[in-house]
Amino acid sequence: MKKIYILTLIVAAVALQNCSTTKQAQVKKPATVTYASNIQGILTNNCSPCHFPPQGNKEPLNTYAGAKSHIDQIIDRINRNPNERGFMPAKHPKLADSTITAFVKWKEGGLLEK
Ligand code: HEC
Repeated sequence: MKKIYILTLIVAAVALQNCSTTKQAQVKKPATVTYASNIQGILTNNCSPCHFPPQGNKEPLNTYAGAKSHIDQIIDRINRNPNERGFMPAKHPKLADSTITAFVKWKEGGLLEK
């Protein structure tokens, strides 16, 4: 009888632990996309040097103001396909869907800096 009791306790403990881990993961997920935590890194990795003065001479996307004021063009260009005119990032593979979505969410969230 005691064995069953202990076994039940272990099963319950494991179940509870799984439960709390799931909750933690949900809490950690950022609610909003911001320039500082999401967008800046994507632009640095994918749009330099072409859009990063002084090396690049294309529309500057190396600052918050530059990215913010070009958000509509950015979303338009990264949604095009590599064989289409004006596709961005030029000469590179298309960005991952989750990366493209980050720009859309950034706009929907009000283009927050931080
Ligand atoms: C290899 C160089 C290169 C890379 C990398 C690159 N671009 Fe460009 N970009 C260009 C060139 C050249 C133009 C001008 C020609 C054109 O408009 O298609 C341009 C134009 C643009 C424009 C149009 C600006 C306007 O005023 O309409 C946008 C927006 C843009 N790029 C966004 C991006 C984004 C976002 C990335 C990164 C995900 C990126 N580009 C990566 C070379 C690049």
